[in-house]
Amino acid sequence: MVNDFSEVLFKESEIKKKVTELGKILKHDYLDKNPVMICILKGGVVFLSDLIRSMDIPLQLDFFSVSSYGASTKSSGVVKIRKDIDTDVTNRDLIIVEDIIDSGLTLEYIINYLENHNPASIKICALLDKPDAHKTELKIDYLGFKIKNEFVVGYGLDYAEKYRNLPYIAVLKKEIYS
Ligand code: IMP
Ligand code: MG
Repeated sequence: MVNDFSEVLFKESEIKKKVTELGKILKHDYLDKNPVMICILKGGVVFLSDLIRSMDIPLQLDFFSVSSYGASTKSSGVVKIRKDIDTDVTNRDLIIVEDIIDSGLTLEYIINYLENHNPASIKICALLDKPDAHKTELKIDYLGFKIKNEFVVGYGLDYAEKYRNLPYIAVLKKEIYS
């Protein structure tokens, strides 16, 4: 698998440090709020499971599954809900946990959808952001790392369902997906 990557972008230890920091900030900000952490499947699941273990406060989990990508590396801009959340989010404080923001179209869709359920607040927590790829205005409240406009895998992120289990984040060689 290592031959598929041009570079390791973030080592396991760097990710761990950053995710622990983010968890501590979230813990502080949501101390008495019992937030609902809404993870976007499948990519967000590794990030979520590490994040919540540095937040020893009451919180709830829920999961959203949407698709816009298929086995390509470009967002189609068309988002489909595959699995909805189960929680009644009316008047609740929501934290959307996402692996990576690329065009931002997925999150824009999810935020609009959740706003219709009248939550008390919605904040975004993303591990990675590609600011140069945005196609919409988004405020990212909690962010791990900004990265260049390259396709990355590992730590939950996939290409055609592969590489999610890597403990580090690497740049996929162009020849793998083009
Ligand atoms: P957006 O709607 O273009 O912001 O796409 C967001 C989703 O696309 C993310 O949740 C990822 O699942 C996927 N994605 C975007 N960039 C990458 C990448 O570099 N590697 C793996 N998945 C990505
Ligand atoms: Mg995703």
